[in-house]
Amino acid sequence: MNTIDTENSLGITFCDRLELAFTHGEGSTVWDESGKPYLDFTSGWGVTCLGHSHPVITHAISKQASKIIQSPNAGFTYSPSRAALLTLLKGALPTGLAKTYFCNSGAEANDASLKLARKITGRKKIISTLGAFHGRTFNTLSVTRDTVNSDRYTPKQADTVFVPFGDITAMVDVIDNQTAAVIVEPIQGEGGVQIPPVDYLSQIQTLCHQHGALFIVDEIQTGFCRTGKFFALEYSGENITPDFLTMGKGIAGGFPFAGFAVSEKVSLLLEKDDHGGTYCGNPLGCAISYAVINHLVENNIADQVTEKGFYLQKNLSQLQNQFPELIREVRGVGLMCAFDFFDQSLTRPFTLACADAGLLVVPTRNGIIRLLPDLLVTQESIDKAVKILAEVMRES
Ligand SMILES: Cc1ncc(COP(=O)(O)O)c(C=O)c1O
Repeated sequence: MNTIDTENSLGITFCDRLELAFTHGEGSTVWDESGKPYLDFTSGWGVTCLGHSHPVITHAISKQASKIIQSPNAGFTYSPSRAALLTLLKGALPTGLAKTYFCNSGAEANDASLKLARKITGRKKIISTLGAFHGRTFNTLSVTRDTVNSDRYTPKQADTVFVPFGDITAMVDVIDNQTAAVIVEPIQGEGGVQIPPVDYLSQIQTLCHQHGALFIVDEIQTGFCRTGKFFALEYSGENITPDFLTMGKGIAGGFPFAGFAVSEKVSLLLEKDDHGGTYCGNPLGCAISYAVINHLVENNIADQVTEKGFYLQKNLSQLQNQFPELIREVRGVGLMCAFDFFDQSLTRPFTLACADAGLLVVPTRNGIIRLLPDLLVTQESIDKAVKILAEVMRES
């Protein structure tokens, strides 16, 4: 039986799939059913930060799974594995973040933050940015400005205002004493690796303080060393203390897990029954996340990512020089990289041709291709990937 056909006829598809089914992976490589290897420069959309089947993760899974996976409603009881993770994470979080709640997906972390911001401030207005992606729940969809689908589910949450990303003057114009929160990514990921001015976050923070609004920083894609810092907000100096810092993706290296950390001020205003969830903070997820974060910290992966990121970006810039009629711009911070085509219609055929040649990339709307390899990717794999990109560009 053909696995791909069976799945397509029975499953629901919300995107243009590649006609591929992967059976296993190791490091930066995944293999399809026929045994063909592919370099995975998607890392499952920026998730498998230690690569595939890393022993640190497989060991943590089997060790914790043989003890306990889920307690009677994980949040209802205490958990040694959660306690250990909270202590470890505290050392990696920006100063001033007092407490953390773990959940299961990035959207859930943002959804809870938006909900709690409304409760704490007693206000409704939320400010987000054009091109932002914060998730697909109703709350997070309302602050996600997807140019293709933005009106599909109207009416969305009322009192949501969008301003151009990186434009602090536009933010000054809309923030007021009715604003519950501003939500922003330090670098827009799904928006195509858009990098704001370096003082953007600190200026938003100042505005939030002036108007009594809460500051939500979405580090779901940028966190856990992806950009060469543990959190990307570190690029904006030491004084950034969001009221909510939301985390996901790399937090547990591929296991569905997420969380949000809150400032002291917010932590004091959280009350019984404000939030919850059956699997939130489950012991298995906590143990895996502990193993991943511990590996990132002990091996100083952030600095390695900076070096590898420079190397990849330098190679991408060389490709731009080689194919100036094809590539409009190259951008990147750490191992969060992208390039734009002049011709936006190239995105899908280019993605397919790369896959054919053994390289998986992340196609993004508006003619953007993102490269999000795992954080342990070798120089040899980067060279191989760049060679494939060049070959496919030559044929495009
Ligand atoms: C910045 C950002 N926030 C939130 C999300 C949503 O996370 P999840 O898909 O885990 O719900 C994503 C996912 O791509 C993201 O990139």
